[in-house]
Amino acid sequence: MNSLANEEMRLNVPAHLQHARLIDWVGRMAELTQARDVYWCDGSDAEYDRLCAKLVAAGTLERLNPETRPNSYLARSSASDVARVEDRTFICSARKEDAGPTNNWIAPQQMRELLQSGDKALFKGCMRGRTLYVVPFSMGPLGSPIAHLGVELSDSPYVVVNMKIMTRMGRAVLDALGSDGHFVPCVHSVGAPLRDGQADTSWPCNHTKYIVHYPETQEIWSYGSGYGGNALLGKKCFALRIASTMGRDQGWLAEHMLVMGVTSPGGKKLHVAAAFPSACGKTNFSMLIPPAALQGWKVTTVGDDIAWIKPGKDGRLYAINPEAGYFGVAPGTNLHTNANCMATLKRDVIFTNVARTDDGDVWWEGMTQTPPAHLIDWQGKHWTPEIARQTGAKAAHPNSRFTVAATNNPALDPQWDDPAGVPIDAFIFGGRRSSTVPLVTEARSWIEGIYMAATMGSETTAAASGAQGVVRRDPFAMLPFIGYNMSDYFQHWLDLGAKLEAQDIALPRIYCVNWFRKGADGKFIWPGYGENMRVLQWIVGRIQGQAKAEDHLMGLSPGYADLNWKGLDFTQAQYRQVTDIDAADWAREVALHAELFEQLAYHMPAPLLATMADIRKRLAR
Ligand code: GTP
Ligand code: SPV
Ligand code: MN
Repeated sequence: MNSLANEEMRLNVPAHLQHARLIDWVGRMAELTQARDVYWCDGSDAEYDRLCAKLVAAGTLERLNPETRPNSYLARSSASDVARVEDRTFICSARKEDAGPTNNWIAPQQMRELLQSGDKALFKGCMRGRTLYVVPFSMGPLGSPIAHLGVELSDSPYVVVNMKIMTRMGRAVLDALGSDGHFVPCVHSVGAPLRDGQADTSWPCNHTKYIVHYPETQEIWSYGSGYGGNALLGKKCFALRIASTMGRDQGWLAEHMLVMGVTSPGGKKLHVAAAFPSACGKTNFSMLIPPAALQGWKVTTVGDDIAWIKPGKDGRLYAINPEAGYFGVAPGTNLHTNANCMATLKRDVIFTNVARTDDGDVWWEGMTQTPPAHLIDWQGKHWTPEIARQTGAKAAHPNSRFTVAATNNPALDPQWDDPAGVPIDAFIFGGRRSSTVPLVTEARSWIEGIYMAATMGSETTAAASGAQGVVRRDPFAMLPFIGYNMSDYFQHWLDLGAKLEAQDIALPRIYCVNWFRKGADGKFIWPGYGENMRVLQWIVGRIQGQAKAEDHLMGLSPGYADLNWKGLDFTQAQYRQVTDIDAADWAREVALHAELFEQLAYHMPAPLLATMADIRKRLAR
């Protein structure tokens, strides 16, 4: 046997695979990581079941009651590995300026030494005693002109089964790659090698974490975490950070946006893409059930987290959902706020860090008004309402999540995996703001819309490690996800708009929303969830030239009489509380815009500075 055939046997390369570059890369990574063996995923259901059984045996997964939650599992992570780690996330572009002031940057050379080549390089031998899984995946429908392929190498079978749900994964992707197809290489290790005979833990991970992106060579390297966006590399790492740089170079957009169809009672269907920061309502909005009084309106889900948007042949912007599943926030989800989501979760789900009931089902804060009398909490400890009262212990971690296939969603849009995507009629941007920002505002122009999106603030949530409830600027809900300089990203949006306008293409309108204003009692004033349909109805009305609006400081908003209040008791006084624009609040707010623009001064687009100057003039009046 020649040495190449020998090598292919050692690597377990499937007989049908002809892709020399892929095989060579897997060989080099197996060598670097010293993985015990290599397994190529075919993406079949049988493989999924096998891996889940293995994870159950290892104690990583627990099978839930098959009567109440068929084909579903519960995972409990290490308490130190429960969310994205923004301070450990790096954009290693050749030039620091290209990563920009909002990203952590280390020179590629130096990072490669840390990870791959230095004496103590983290990936050297990091998979000892473990299997290296080769996970070929497609972001977007296979064969779509908007889709892109990737291959993740991971030593975590938990990641593999999640990737099977979250992406189009397996043999069909290898076939699509052929002998020389392009793929984004993603290397992931939990960073917990096993010595001979050393027992594994149920959630291996490492205290040291690195989530690393090389935009020029389109590589992703992730070390030390097995959780969510840190480890499912098709999601934030590829579909946002790497894809945003691809979009910058190729003239398209990779956005932290849900995409939905909105059908009006007359049967006309529009499509809306909406960006909200992490844990600020995308999944919920994408599955919205209109209140009974707004009969005839229908919302359908194209995607719940990420949109790839490209100009189509007719010049309009078309969006696809690059994902195939939802990795959604569990707490707060219930039959009243999101019945579609609850239906989606009836079966075939991997839950992570929720609580378990005594009869083998799941529970989280907000699922029912009265909690069960006894639970096993997300850390495997006994939990009762009394213990919670005394210690404040949450049964489910605030960033506990479900992984579930999009096809489980009863509100799934029939075009959700159309390779051509859906044409976008409006963009919505929304933050979590307990004060200051009104319920809904329409931008008077593309530039004013970009300004609103660029200056958006939001209170931090449990989706990322670190302090919560702190207002920070989160431009376009992309602060943790932009793969290049933020000001260049603003310019990219401005350029795209200018390009389409030059071709006489009607641009989508841009809106800014805030469901989260609070009253003096600390409670949300706006009922939110399904009632957000009232705002959507107004937006659709605006696009169709029917709904009225009033001019204010920044953009246009509906007056009380311009929203449909049928079936909802929401007084004019309450409405004032969620729409009121307080001059002192806004003077402070615009000062924060200015602070952001100062931080982003390098390449800051002049039209945004001009827009800020206009707002200041209006404020002064
Ligand atoms: P990521 O997956 O982290 O990107 O989050 P997301 O933007 O998809 O947020 P999601 O829809 O999961 O909602 C996060 C939290 O906000 C949940 O606890 C929801 O119950 C809550 N939430 C969502 N929509 C609303 C709303 O309209 N009003 C209020 N008050 N809360 C909401
Ligand atoms: C987010 O944090 O925006 C998420 C969850 O959607 S994660 O996949 O962990 O990024
Ligand atoms: Mn998200």
